Amino acid sequence: MSMDDSLIPFNDMARIHKPLLPQFKERLGNLVESSHLVLGAEVELFEKELAEIEGSKFAVGVNSGTSAIELTLRALDVGIGDEVITTSFTFVATCFAILQTGATPVLVDINPRTGLLDPNCVADAITKQTRALVFVTLHGRVEGLDELQEICKQNGLAFIIDAAQSHLGTFKDLPQSRFCDAATLSFYPGKNLGALGEAGAVITDSTEIAEKIKVMRDWGATEKYNHNSWGGNFRLETIQAGFLRIKLPHLRKWTENRKNIAKTYQGSINPEVLMDPIKSDGSHVYHIYSISCMNRDNFTKSLANFNIGFGYHYPKAVHEQSAYKNKVIVSGALPNSEALARTTLSIPLFPEQRDTEIERVIRVLNKLVSEK
Ligand SMILES: Cc1ncc(COP(=O)(O)O)c(C=O)c1O
Repeated sequence: MSMDDSLIPFNDMARIHKPLLPQFKERLGNLVESSHLVLGAEVELFEKELAEIEGSKFAVGVNSGTSAIELTLRALDVGIGDEVITTSFTFVATCFAILQTGATPVLVDINPRTGLLDPNCVADAITKQTRALVFVTLHGRVEGLDELQEICKQNGLAFIIDAAQSHLGTFKDLPQSRFCDAATLSFYPGKNLGALGEAGAVITDSTEIAEKIKVMRDWGATEKYNHNSWGGNFRLETIQAGFLRIKLPHLRKWTENRKNIAKTYQGSINPEVLMDPIKSDGSHVYHIYSISCMNRDNFTKSLANFNIGFGYHYPKAVHEQSAYKNKVIVSGALPNSEALARTTLSIPLFPEQRDTEIERVIRVLNKLVSEK
C-alpha cells in the first residue's frame, strides 16, 4: 500500500496521548503511592482549573456525562411526573438521564441545516407538566442560547445545556454556562477533552446547584454516614482528575486545531454536502464534523474503499430506537430528525490530523460528490 492510501482514522487519540505519556505515568505513580483514589485534593484542583477555563463559577466532577445530566436535573428538583423537552437527534444518554429522574423526555424537531433543536418547536411542546429544557450542543455547535434562555424564562423552565460535545463552547463570546442553570460535560475518551476512562462534570454559576450535586454524587451524605438527600455513587476517580489536569492546558490549542481543520473543510468541500456555517453570534468547537448526503450508502462504501474512517452521529433518532420509543413523548412529528439521521455522515477531524490527511479527505469527498 502506498503512503497515499494508508488509513486515515476517524479519530486517533494516541497522537495526543503519546507525548503526554511520561506525565501520565508520573501522576499515576504519585497517586498510587498516596493511596488517595476517589475524589480528594486532585479532584478539587481539577474542578478549579476546569471552572476557570470554562468561565463558570463552579465545576463539579462526576463519573460520567450521563450522571452530570441526571444530577443537574435532580438538583433542579425534576422528577416523577415532570416533562423535560429535548431533541431526538442526540446520543441516547440525554434521554436516558432524563428517564433516570422519573421524568419523561418530550422530543421536539431540529433545524435540518444545523442538527440542533429548533427553538420554534419548543412552545408547542410545553404543557403544565413541563419543568425543564435540555439543549444539546450537538457536534460542538453552540447556537441560539439567548432565544432558548428567554423561552425558559417566560415559561418558568429550568434550562440545562448538554454540552458533552462542546467543551469551551461560547455564545456571543460568553461562556455557554452563563446562559443556563448548568451545562454538563462528558470526558468520555474521544471527547474534545477526554479522560483515560470515564468522567464528566457540571459547570454552573449557581452555588446551590454545585453544592447539591457535590452531596448527591457521594450518596447524599452531608457528612460521613449522614445521608440527608437523595444520592448515589457518582464520584469522580482521583486518577481521572489527575489525567484530565495534564490534558486541560492543551485544550485551547486542540480546539483551535479543530477549528482550523473545519475552516479548511468548509472552504474546500463541495457545498452541496455541507451543513450551515456557524452564525456569527455562536461558536463551534467541532467535536464532530458532519456533512449530509442523500446517497449516504454510496459515500460510505467509497470512503471505506479509499481507506478513510467515518462515523454517524447519529444514524437513528432516539424515538426510533426500540428501547426508547415507548418511553418518550414525540411532540407532533419529527421529520427533520428522521431525515437527518438517514443522511448524516461524520468525517475525520481531530487535533493532530496531518495536512496530507486533510487534503486527501477533501479530494475524495469532492470526487464522490461530482460522480454521484
Ligand atoms: C450529547 C451527549 N450527551 C451525553 C453523553 C454521555 O456522556 P458519557 O458517555 O460521559 O456518559 C454523550 C457522550 O457519549 C453525548 O455525546
